[in-house]
Amino acid sequence: MATLREVLQDAQRRGVAVGHFNFSDLTALRAAVAAAGELNVPVMVGVSEGERALVGVRQAATLVKSLREETGHPIFLNADHTHSLEKAEEAARAGFDEIIFDGSSMALDENVKQTSRAVEAIKSINPAIMVEGEVGYIGTSSEILTKAPEGIGALTTPEEATQFVNATRIDVLAPAVGNMHGLLQSMVRGEAQKHLDIERIGVVHAACGIFMTLHGGSGTNDQDFQRAIKAGMTIVHVNTELRLAWRRGLEAELKAHPEEVAPYKILPGAYNAIKDVVTARLRLFNFLG
Ligand code: G3H
Ligand code: ZN
Repeated sequence: MATLREVLQDAQRRGVAVGHFNFSDLTALRAAVAAAGELNVPVMVGVSEGERALVGVRQAATLVKSLREETGHPIFLNADHTHSLEKAEEAARAGFDEIIFDGSSMALDENVKQTSRAVEAIKSINPAIMVEGEVGYIGTSSEILTKAPEGIGALTTPEEATQFVNATRIDVLAPAVGNMHGLLQSMVRGEAQKHLDIERIGVVHAACGIFMTLHGGSGTNDQDFQRAIKAGMTIVHVNTELRLAWRRGLEAELKAHPEEVAPYKILPGAYNAIKDVVTARLRLFNFLG
């Protein structure tokens, strides 16, 4: 089985991106894995600190390991947006493939200090784990938002990116390039989309020279996604769209079967809705037409 680093190298060489999808339960995890399997493309699945609190850290790792063994498919697990050294070490010990140490709300110097410490600690547990760091603020929640959070809009500069990457020795950089976590209500209604600064993605990538992740993928314009991938994004994260699909899928089933109490009869509504979103996003990220 190829390692995550090898899969990212291959994606970069081919000018495509690896889709990353968050999960809070087995329904969403299996939906994402099934979509990737049908399209025969690698996939990353991730759990934030909140998602990990529900799923369990070691349990998430065990579930992914068992799906990987059963399907033989390249499925990789990421500890998404990890804010403390303790939680980063816990994920490293559990066997995660990637850990994102998120110091993006700190001043750059403090972010450098804490991310460097996390890189050292994670690599001392397992040098093969990819570590991602973040420079620039893109909001924090994969939720439906009434307005963009304060501070959104400032872009990561190539100088900041280079300084951060050289000082921390991270493997993957998450910059702020017009992206934002979550969906505005206008986006949920289909009246607006996120747009990215493609030129900035290109210069930041050329300057830092490492893999880059596009966070806040939900609600992004399709063309911008593909131009961002061509400009240097090798991983793309999507979460809020899946949460919305989960809720809508569940609500539709509950409404259609008001007396039903068997979860395994209701949950396929959420599974199918999530799988459809993941399939559409993976087709786009892999330029499958
Ligand atoms: O790490 C998670 C992603 O960046 C999700 O962003 O909820 O806007 O899709 P999103
Ligand atoms: Zn994110």
